[in-house]
Amino acid sequence: MEQLALNISEKSRTRIIASSPLSFQIELMEYVGGEDVPALIEVSESLALEYGESARLTKTTIRKYFNYPKTLPFVARYQGEIVGYIIGVPLEYFARDPWAKFDQNLGQGNTLYTYAYVILARYRGNGFARTLKRVYLNWAKKHHYRYVTGHVLEGIARKFSPNTTIVKRFNNWHGSGRTFEYYRRPIKDAATSRDF
Ligand SMILES: CC(C)(COP(=O)(O)OP(=O)(O)OC[C@H]1O[C@@H](n2cnc3c(N)ncnc32)[C@H](O)[C@@H]1OP(=O)(O)O)[C@@H](O)C(=O)NCCC(=O)NCCS
Repeated sequence: MEQLALNISEKSRTRIIASSPLSFQIELMEYVGGEDVPALIEVSESLALEYGESARLTKTTIRKYFNYPKTLPFVARYQGEIVGYIIGVPLEYFARDPWAKFDQNLGQGNTLYTYAYVILARYRGNGFARTLKRVYLNWAKKHHYRYVTGHVLEGIARKFSPNTTIVKRFNNWHGSGRTFEYYRRPIKDAATSRDF
């Protein structure tokens, strides 16, 4: 296991994108200080349960995926505790990955790929995940993205907005033995409100 030589008093630099009176807020994480690394790793444990060990964050992969402004990491914080995150990455970042060539928008600069979306299990089903996703879509819309895409387990994307399309299915995605679908969701109709 990777040894973390962490300075846990090192502060993160974040920008609050939305907040509620109930101590719940969404932040765009511009720099991850050591203080937040253990919590991000803990949240990623749930992703590892679903997607395998490679989804578990380490000190090294945190720097790769929480790498603003190349990547756009939004964290959800409740009563000061990080309870989830969603990471958007401009599609062009993946230009060399074989799957990206199936997206006709590659090179257009109009697509935000959702790399990860996770909420701690004890905070699911209470609206935190929905709010995180809504704020993310609104942010993307305001920044002139036209589509959000991502890989999800087969069958999941049909629960998204009715305009969502499946671009391609990938069998045995990343050796998981499971079929994932690559979806595209237009964001022109995302809500514009900043409030929850
Ligand atoms: C995905 C997850 C964040 C949803 O949290 P939740 O509290 O159960 O959320 P809800 O059921 O209230 O759904 C919230 C939104 O997430 C969407 N959603 C649910 N499961 C999803 C999934 N696997 N992938 C993407 N979006 C998903 C729902 O459609 C809903 O969107 P809507 O507001 O547009 O309708 C949570 O189940 C989780 O952390 N799972 C483990 C990690 C994971 O599988 N992530 C998804 C792919 S990276």
